[in-house]
Amino acid sequence: MSHYKIALLEGDGIGPEIAREAVKVFKLVEERNDVTFEITHCDFGAGAYFKCGHPFPDETKAVCDAADAIIKGPIGLSHEESQKIPVDMQPERGALLPMRRRYNTFANFRPVSLPKALAHFSPLKPEIIGEGIDIVMVRELVGGLYFGEKEVGVNEQGLRYVRETLEYDEGQISRVVHEAFKLSMRRKKVLHNIHKSNVLKSSVLWNEVVEEIAPEYPEVEVRHVLVDAAATLLCLNPGQFDVMVMENMFGDILSDQGGGILGSLGLMPSSCKGPDKSYYEPSHGSAPDIAGKNIANPYSMIGSVAMMLEDSFGMAEESRNVWRAMQSVFGEGFSTPDLSKPGAGVTMINTDEFGDKVVEALAAMPRPA
Ligand code: IPM
Ligand code: MG
Repeated sequence: MSHYKIALLEGDGIGPEIAREAVKVFKLVEERNDVTFEITHCDFGAGAYFKCGHPFPDETKAVCDAADAIIKGPIGLSHEESQKIPVDMQPERGALLPMRRRYNTFANFRPVSLPKALAHFSPLKPEIIGEGIDIVMVRELVGGLYFGEKEVGVNEQGLRYVRETLEYDEGQISRVVHEAFKLSMRRKKVLHNIHKSNVLKSSVLWNEVVEEIAPEYPEVEVRHVLVDAAATLLCLNPGQFDVMVMENMFGDILSDQGGGILGSLGLMPSSCKGPDKSYYEPSHGSAPDIAGKNIANPYSMIGSVAMMLEDSFGMAEESRNVWRAMQSVFGEGFSTPDLSKPGAGVTMINTDEFGDKVVEALAAMPRPA
């Protein structure tokens, strides 16, 4: 019997409601497998700031340090509410980036997956979607502009200025590029390297490192695509992409576009891998406008559970079952109000009902051998 400690950081806005549904899935997975989960709820985000004076309190750090894996909900407040928190204590700067730094989660995996059962959510035409979209964006997560030196001041002309630096060394590039190649080997063996080497020196080095590593994975075909062109191609012909690898800021932007082509960021779970520990999170924000209404779809949070089962606990088959269970609920024509408008030809259910249906569908599947 395996026993795993999980830190559960519900986060802000819709976080607690979608986290509840994730817990239902963990409970059922325990029943179906030779595994137990010890789940500890921790404060994290804007709520933690108001309650404890810090968005990433020491107690939360201690639980996360001791955990085998971490799952966190979305964080953040509306723009107006955020202003009530000092800039450095706002949850993005005060909690999320410190979490990424603390666990050195250099590789962020963001599946952009649109199987048939979800195709109706996409704004793209059926002829563009074709047989479905199945991409994994691999984003470098602890370097680049996000973590570079920053300076603000007044220059010699008396003008306010800002300087932010984009810095990578070859080690930072190669470790995430290796992750992308390894993932490509398990998938279609086509790796799109996303860059901007016509302008940025950082991309020139990035591409050199990719080229140096490529011979170690001779079966993988590498295609280099400029980031701006990639944005267009994602709309015009997303089916050509399988694994895409890119630096932090490019990955932030293109992965949101990934959510756009699926029809919602609510369909975007993710995993953030570090050398010792990974954490899992929806790629979207806390959606304060619909928080507490029981209408947010928990797909991104339950998908994050599925990613944890596979990547942190080696439970690949049960992970696939969780994905299939979620897709089957959509396949049966159910949806939630955040994803579908009334009259869209779906049967509307709430957050908790969606979670219950996922659990029902999973319970009906054969247990992993
Ligand atoms: C994401 C988010 C974060 C980021 C924000 C909340 C800091 O947009 O995970 O993509 O920019 O990385
Ligand atoms: Mg983002």
